Amino acid sequence: MILNNILFFLAAIQGAYCWGDLGHRTVAYLAANYLTDDASQFVNTLLENDQGFDISDGALWADSVKRRRGYTQTAEWHYIDAQDDPPRTCGVIYKRDCKAGPGCVVSAITNMTSRVNDGDLDTNQQKEALMFILHFIGDIHQPLHTEMLDRGGNEIKVCFDSHCGEKVNLHGIWDKDILYKHRGLKPSVSDHTILKEAAAQWAAELKSSNEARGMVTTAECSNINTAQKCALAWATESNGWICKYVLQPSVDWIEQNDLGGDYFNGAVTIVDDLIGKAGLRLGAWLNALAAARSTGEKFVVQNSERVEV
Ligand code: ADE
Ligand code: ZN
Ligand code: ZN
Repeated sequence: MILNNILFFLAAIQGAYCWGDLGHRTVAYLAANYLTDDASQFVNTLLENDQGFDISDGALWADSVKRRRGYTQTAEWHYIDAQDDPPRTCGVIYKRDCKAGPGCVVSAITNMTSRVNDGDLDTNQQKEALMFILHFIGDIHQPLHTEMLDRGGNEIKVCFDSHCGEKVNLHGIWDKDILYKHRGLKPSVSDHTILKEAAAQWAAELKSSNEARGMVTTAECSNINTAQKCALAWATESNGWICKYVLQPSVDWIEQNDLGGDYFNGAVTIVDDLIGKAGLRLGAWLNALAAARSTGEKFVVQNSERVEV
């Protein structure tokens, strides 16, 4: 009981979990659907998937280490705090919004892209770089991970299906509650087998809807030598939803209305679009990484300093 309280307290102060298990696992399984044989082999070998640790487990790892000794500097790599003025104006400006020292999700994607194929690093460092990529390409597609206002909405207390109070905030419902309700899961579900099954099913549906929309990996930004440009374009697209939907009704309205009704209904389409794009783009990225790996091609990181882990 005491232990439960301590764990609850720790969960409460640490705030949100990024897309949450369901979102990250779905992005990973969707990406797996797009992989070339080379890329599939590269990912499974580096992750040591023969031990039952699959691509979706790899995508969760970054959240599990962000408070661990030696990894605390990675906590800021999960988002970029755009200092825009929503819902009036949105926009991400790299120099303004990506903190020079710690970096942000855009610089983290760039750095980890350069590390994963770096033959001077040991296998475990390459594996960690891959797991960061699996996670951050998910996070960058969560609109509130590209917004500074109220710490990405973490400080905006809301009600969702009559659950209100300290624990329920705008960031958290976009990370988790909207997704779980959309996929028919109770918020209390934490069993990994159930979540993996739900994620695989959602990924299969998103693969079909991507196909129906003519969305293919080859049309996505996948030049790993211009990682920063690609990541900035993804962040900008994601941030655009802040003004178009997430904060569009105003913070006051959001605080005063239950978001489990019409707000939820409108959000579902956006979440499907963003998770669908994140999986497609992650797939394209891993294919490009695998192709460069097999040619032994090295590349130079542009406009970004590498951060050692
Ligand atoms: N902490 C500060 N800003 C944040 C954001 N936009 N998303 C998640 N965590 C944050
Ligand atoms: Zn994250
Ligand atoms: Zn989050």
